[in-house]
Amino acid sequence: MADPRIMPAFEIACPDDWHVHFRDGDVLKAVVPETARSFARALVMPNLLPPVRCDSDAVAYKRRILASVPDEFEFEPLMTLYLTEESEPKLVEAAAVAGTAIAVKLYPAGATTNSASGVRNFDKIAPVLEKMAEIGMPLCVHGEVADEAVDIFDRETVFLERVLEPIRRRNPALKVVLEHVTTREGVEYVLNGGGGIAATITVHHLAINRNIMLSGGMRPHYYCLPVAKRECHREALLSAATSGSERFFLGTDSAPHLKDGKETAVACAGIFTATCAVPCLAQIFDDTGAIDRLEAFASVNGAKFYDLPQNSGKIILEKCELPVEYSKAVSAGDDSIAVFDPGFPIHWKARRCRDKLR
Ligand code: NCD
Ligand code: ZN
Repeated sequence: MADPRIMPAFEIACPDDWHVHFRDGDVLKAVVPETARSFARALVMPNLLPPVRCDSDAVAYKRRILASVPDEFEFEPLMTLYLTEESEPKLVEAAAVAGTAIAVKLYPAGATTNSASGVRNFDKIAPVLEKMAEIGMPLCVHGEVADEAVDIFDRETVFLERVLEPIRRRNPALKVVLEHVTTREGVEYVLNGGGGIAATITVHHLAINRNIMLSGGMRPHYYCLPVAKRECHREALLSAATSGSERFFLGTDSAPHLKDGKETAVACAGIFTATCAVPCLAQIFDDTGAIDRLEAFASVNGAKFYDLPQNSGKIILEKCELPVEYSKAVSAGDDSIAVFDPGFPIHWKARRCRDKLR
């Protein structure tokens, strides 16, 4: 194969997004097409109100998502269940066996958007985790403690030692994804963590550090959880993503919030990136001299972790002389959702081959 670094356009296997929020209603209708344009599959987070807790919730939610997929794209939502202290091993196993959910999401209660039904006492989820380890169902974790006494910039590293390590020691066979890793310590934990651990990395955490959010004015559209950290942490994420290590793969954490909820005194956490995620990622990999590693990160490693086949459909990535303009916002009902602006020009376009294939 020719070296993609010197080609203006090339194909890679269609990417998957291993962490996305679609919400429901008007927002769902607005954002699902944005993801389907660039991704063949996405792992859909269950933090609706009320959450997606069981087989039948997941089936119904998947149906609502599929109803918003544009005809021209083949797109498969992969569903997750929301872990609560009341989750029953039997129900989780039933969803795994039926294939209606492929993973379970752990939110520490209070850690992030719609996490109130999450877990306070981690002992209570021991039976479910045991069952998941037994049947090979992965646990996706929001890796932050929800402890007000812990500085918000330290909540991920404290989670690793206080929550994640004890869970993994008790369940060595449990497959775990440290979702949206944001710190150097998180990257090291995953690299040195033995078998069964991987991490998703978002596009925005590869693109911004906390200065972009806070210096020269407070920019709520860059506020998300886990919050962006110092530049040295962004650099660690970039090294991990472009390293080719199979333990790291793309999960955009594209998290739409209406402008009303972002441009206000207490802004919601979440950045909506679906519209420009793949071109933005191509720009970041290109700038790092690692465009040849993009396919592994965006289209290969995640499927391997989840024991799923790689997508047979392709996406064409094209480098353009002039910066490409992406929509600044997507309409949803009477309001709109701001699209992530990485703060640097994007010279890449991504287009799914018209396939109707995966
Ligand atoms: C997410 C959301 O809005 O649902 N917010 C965010 O800041 N990332 C939840 C999450 O993944 O933490
Ligand atoms: Zn998320």
